[in-house]
Amino acid sequence: NMMREISGINEMEKRLQSLLNLNEIVIVPGNSDESPWVKEELGRASAFSMKQRLEGNNIIAVTGGSTMAAVAEMLTPDFSGSDTLFVPARGGIGEDVKNQANTICAKMAEHTGMRHRVLYVPDQVSKEVYKSFLKEPMIKEVLNLIKSANMVLHGIGDAITMAERRKTSPDDFEKITVGHAVGEAFGYYFDESGEVVHKVPTIGLQLEDLKHINHVFAVAGGSSKAKAIRAYLKSAPSSTILITDEGAAKELLKG
Ligand code: F6P
Repeated sequence: NMMREISGINEMEKRLQSLLNLNEIVIVPGNSDESPWVKEELGRASAFSMKQRLEGNNIIAVTGGSTMAAVAEMLTPDFSGSDTLFVPARGGIGEDVKNQANTICAKMAEHTGMRHRVLYVPDQVSKEVYKSFLKEPMIKEVLNLIKSANMVLHGIGDAITMAERRKTSPDDFEKITVGHAVGEAFGYYFDESGEVVHKVPTIGLQLEDLKHINHVFAVAGGSSKAKAIRAYLKSAPSSTILITDEGAAKELLKG
């Protein structure tokens, strides 16, 4: 489109694609740190990219966060011809209800007219209770669905911002700071070289599962997330489709 050419966004996408060694990058105009409507644009672009890759049957695993919530708002009832199920990618990782993957999956199902399943695993229970939870047939069933997802849609956050937003224990907080974590995704905290320095122990999708999934969409914008995006992408599958904004892209291009 004309606007994208004039503003140089197409050119930016190409440069960033080769810099980050990814097959596909979508950049939306603006900086979501400064303007709230940019998140809506991230949502719109994600919805578009997802729809292009729908198959007959889809299981879409989704993480939490305000960006994912924005994607949910932008989904429309045109998943027609597909049978799609939304599932949370992982169990509880300490987010408020509105930012939880379960809530976002329900919204996505509502907006598309498709189905969703929830995964309720308590955050603060003993190992024994946790283990017995995993034996529950309903939980097992949802876990199997998650493991057979053909699409994953996830956010990326700044490590300290995320550690603060969740009720991270002082011990874990220390691991995150001592390990110099800069980015977070799926409950994994990464340092600048992409090494995992801390992981929230919960069930569901694990980082190593991502390489078996056909379509992985990472959605994150705002110049403040550039470091986090760069760190995460060092260990992300190269098939990842990055959907970001100009604010983050400009920072990322500075190298
Ligand atoms: O907690 C879920 C999560 O997807 C994190 O993995 C990620 O860092 C964060 O949310 C992103 O949140 P936001 O989109 O609000 O910046």
